Amino acid sequence: MTNIDLLLLPGDGIGPEVMAETKRVIEFFEKQGAAKFTVEEDLVGGAAYDAHKKAISEDAMRKARDADAILLGAVGGPKWANVPYDARPEAGLLRLRKDLQLFANLRPAICYPALADDSSLKRELVEGLDIVIVRELTGGVYFGEPKTITDLGNGQKRAIDTQVYDTYEIERIARVAFDLARKRRNKVTSSEKNNVMKSGVLWKEVVTQVHEREFKDVKLEHNLADSLGMQLVRAPKQFDVIVTDNLFGDILSDVAAMLTGSLGMLPSASLGEVDAKTKKRRALYEPVHGSAPDIAGKGLANPIAMIGSFGMMLRYSFGMTKEADMIEQAIAAALAKGLRTADIKGKAEKTVGTREMTDAILSELEKLAA
Ligand code: IPM
Ligand code: MG
Repeated sequence: MTNIDLLLLPGDGIGPEVMAETKRVIEFFEKQGAAKFTVEEDLVGGAAYDAHKKAISEDAMRKARDADAILLGAVGGPKWANVPYDARPEAGLLRLRKDLQLFANLRPAICYPALADDSSLKRELVEGLDIVIVRELTGGVYFGEPKTITDLGNGQKRAIDTQVYDTYEIERIARVAFDLARKRRNKVTSSEKNNVMKSGVLWKEVVTQVHEREFKDVKLEHNLADSLGMQLVRAPKQFDVIVTDNLFGDILSDVAAMLTGSLGMLPSASLGEVDAKTKKRRALYEPVHGSAPDIAGKGLANPIAMIGSFGMMLRYSFGMTKEADMIEQAIAAALAKGLRTADIKGKAEKTVGTREMTDAILSELEKLAA
C-alpha cells in the first residue's frame, strides 16, 4: 500500500473543528485500503503564536518541507489583532506559501444542484456553475519590496506596497491555467489592470506569448479585473478557467465562492513546480473560507470545504481519482438529502452541525464503497 506522509495544520477558529472531522474521512480511506496515511500535526497562525510567539515554528516548517502534502484549516481571529505585524496569524500561511514556492492556487467554484437556491444570484445564473480561478500565490503586492510605513516627520505617514511580477512568474502560472483548461472546456480568461498598472501590461503580454507559443488550441480572452468582477456576478457561467495575480485572485475568488451558496463550500489547492527528478510537487490544500471566529468552538461550521480540500489532495497530489470522485459524490448526496449547515440553510427547516454533516458524508462514502 502506498505510504503518504501528511502534515495537518488545523490553525485557528473553526480550523480545528473542521480538521477533526476531515481526519475521520482520512481514516475511512485508510480502512478502505486506498493508502496508508502517516499523519503529523502542528500549529500555525494564532495557535502557533500563543505557543511560540511566532506564526509558524521552524519545526513545523521543516515538517511542511518533508511532507508529501499539507492540509491546513484556517488562520486568524480578533484575539491576535494586536500582535506584532510579522507574527500575525496570516504571516504563518504566507510563509508556507512563499518558502515552499506554492505559486499556483487553484480555487474551483462549483455550484451543487441542491444549493442553487442558496446563492445570492438567481438559480438560472449559477445552476451547473463550474469554474476555476487560478491565482498566482507567491508574488505581486503580497510579497513585493519595499513594503513599509514611514513617518514623514510632518504629521504625515507614507505607506508603500509594491506590486512586482517577473516574466517567469507569469509564464509558469499561465501554463498551469492553460494545462488545466485543456482538461476542461478549453478556455482561459486572463485578468489584470493593464490600463493603469505596468504589471498588468507585462502580465497581458506574457500570457499572450505563452498562448501563441504553447497553447494555440486553447481559447484565450483578456478581461480587466474590475470588469471581470462585474461579469462574475452578471453571467458567471461564461467562464472556464480564470488566471490572475495574487491580489485580484484573492478578491475574485471570494466573489466566485459566494456564487456557489457559501464560502463554506470551497476547497483549494496551492501547488509548487513539478520536480523534474521525483515528478512530485509540493502542495498545500485548504478551504477558501477563513477561521470564522464568530462560530468557532460551537460545532456549527460547514466541514465541506475542508473535506473537499482533502479530496483535491487525493486528486492532485496522489492521482487517486476514484477516491476524489467518491468524496465529491458523497458531498453532493448528503446535500441532495437536504442536510444543511447554518451557512447554507436557505429555506431548510432544520440545520445540522459539523459532526452530523460529516456523519452524513461518511455514510454516503460507505454506500459508494460497498
Ligand atoms: C486567502 C486569505 C489569505 C490571503 C489571508 C488569510 C492572508 O484571504 O487565502 O484568500 O489574503 O491570501
Ligand atoms: Mg482571501
